[in-house]
This record gives sequence, C-alpha cells and structure tokens, in this order.
Amino acid sequence: MGAKRVGIMTGGGDCPGLNAVIRAAVRVGCERHGFEMLGIEDATNGLIDLDYRSPSGNQWLTPASVRGILARGGTILGTSNKSDPFHFVATVEGKKVETDVSDRVMENYRKLDLDGVISIGGDGSMRIAKQFMDKGMNVVGVPKTIDNDLSATDQTFGFDTAVQIACEALDRLRDTAESHDRVMLVEVMGRDAGWIALHAGMAGGADAILIPEIPYTLSAVADVIKKRRAAGQFYSLIVVAEGAKPRGGQVCALEKKLGEMPRLMGAAHRAAEGLSEALPDIEMRVTVLGHIQRGGSPSSYDRVLATRYGVAAANLVASGQYGMMTALKGGSIQSVPIADAVAEPKVVDPEGELVRAAREIGVSFG
Ligand code: F6P
Repeated sequence: MGAKRVGIMTGGGDCPGLNAVIRAAVRVGCERHGFEMLGIEDATNGLIDLDYRSPSGNQWLTPASVRGILARGGTILGTSNKSDPFHFVATVEGKKVETDVSDRVMENYRKLDLDGVISIGGDGSMRIAKQFMDKGMNVVGVPKTIDNDLSATDQTFGFDTAVQIACEALDRLRDTAESHDRVMLVEVMGRDAGWIALHAGMAGGADAILIPEIPYTLSAVADVIKKRRAAGQFYSLIVVAEGAKPRGGQVCALEKKLGEMPRLMGAAHRAAEGLSEALPDIEMRVTVLGHIQRGGSPSSYDRVLATRYGVAAANLVASGQYGMMTALKGGSIQSVPIADAVAEPKVVDPEGELVRAAREIGVSFG
C-alpha cells in the first residue's frame, strides 16, 4: 500500500494556534506516518475548485514548509467563513443564489486521491465535516474557535489567547477609567456564548459582565455604578459580550447576508446609551475589541494545546479513526465523534460554579 494522501484545511474565522496545529499534524503525519499532506486553500474553496488561487492554491506541505510558523497568528492555508459547499453562494445572471456544490467537492476529493482530510474548525466547519462524512469523505476534526462554544471538548484552542488579549485591554482601560472617573464598556466577541466575556471580565476585575446567557436589566447595571460611586469608586469597568441582550430584548446584529452568519455588533453602544440616559452626569466610553482578539501570536497555552491536537489528529488518520474530533477532556487529549461535537453549542451555565464565583466576589451580571 502506498503512502496515505491527507488533506488539511482551516475553516471559519481565523484564530491563534491554527498554524501550530498545521505544523504538528504535518510533522507527525509526514515524519512518523509517511503521509503526503496537501494543504487546501481557504477552507473548502480549494476543494470546490481545484484551480482556485487566492493567492497560491492548494500546496503540498512538508516539515520544511511548516518550519517557523508555531508562533504565527492566522493560518498559512487561508480560511473562509462563507464557503459552505452545501449552501454555496454563486452569482448567476448578476444575482446571488445559494447552490449545493458538495458533489463537486466529493469529485475533487476523489480526483486528488485523498485518503482523508483533517478539518480544523469551529461548529460550522464540524457540521460541514459531518455532512461530508455522510457522503463518504474520511474526516478527522480539530476544534478551533476563540468562542470556546464547542461541546465535547473542555476547550478549543484560540480561546486562551483571546481572553488574554481582552484581559490586557481591561487592564489598560482601567487606568483611563480611574484617571477620568469614567465608566468604560468593553465589547468582546463570542457570538452566542459568554465565555470570553466571563473569563476576561473575571481576570480583568470587571464590575459587571453582560453575557448572552443572562439577559440583563440596565437598572441593575446602573445600580452597580451608583453603589461604587457612593463607596468612593468613581469609575467602573463593564464587559459586554457581543451577543448580550437586555431582558426581553434581542441581540444587536446587522442584517444577515446570503451565505453568511449574522454579524453581531453594537451591544456595548446600546448598553452605554441606556446607561447614559439613566446616569446623565457620568461619562461613558465604549471600546469594541473586535478582531484584535483573533490576531497575533498564540499564548503558550494555546501553542501547546494546538500542538497536542495536531499530533492527535495525524495519529487518528494513521489509525483510520475517521469521523472523530480531537478533544480535551479532564486534562488529557481524547477523541469524540464529530456528530457529538455539533449536537449543541456549549454555553455558560448561569447557575454554574464560574458564574457563582464571580457573583460571590461582587460581579454583577445585570
Ligand atoms: O466565531 C468567531 C468570531 O470571531 C465570533 O466571535 C464573531 O462573532 C465572528 O467570528 C466574527 O466573524 P467575522 O470575522 O466574519 O466578522
């Protein structure tokens, strides 16, 4: 039997640690198992069209070609969060329409003579992976996302770095808040999960943390600010998850575009406006961290986790354990069916120990 030919791709939003997974999987795949490894460009785009070039096209990877990427953010393979082959947006006669190009992907997978694909991605990518497995593709998944919202793993890589970045931002904003007696609101990412907000807020000493899982009331947040002032603390730090919403209200989102996820935006500005009305004499400022949370060098924790995931993914392919996703469980790397990983998102438990601990030290959830 010849060497296994294995594709590797990154899907969804970029995230610190993607390159560390690629490096580890390629090293172990090529050196230990003798794989030939094909880097697929921009998520599934390189499989939808074998002539796809943006800018380089699919490329064979070797331990030499992945040298020096461990500490680099982004992904050397490129990625996309709008290339779902089952709902692919094409322009037909000047109009955007959704089409299913999954059969073309399967044809190209066979044309490339691949034995399997390592798909590094979040919930969307794992859902797509599951659909391709049902069509006969051999897939091994690796859980990535700064949102940390994938069930079946204790942690996705990228999350630790994002929390670190948000925490550093809070430390900086505290200085200005304190110097100017202001209320600083900081909007963090996380989509429908409040993990980044909760961890960064706790690590950064926030006074209030507004998360999607606990709809807030503005009067409760205003009370926190008032109480602090009454006690001589003239500034406050409030972390607002992008998916946070007032009790009985909706998330702040832009209009959904065909083939794209709804973009969450404006949660902190909305809260600041409401608070300004209630507390007109207090200065408020909003900082939206946005994609700063996704870029840059991964933390040492994420480098190690991503490396462990990459090693495990290559080993799963070697032993033919397809349909599995690498996972962190109780400190050790294991594998779980991809189907379990996408069953339901992992969100913050409003009654859980983390939220209770935060409440005990005086953090308000609005
Ligand atoms: O899923 C990762 C994430 O960064 C979310 O936290 C955020 O809502 C979304 O992606 C932003 O996506 P985009 O890069 O398309 O703006």
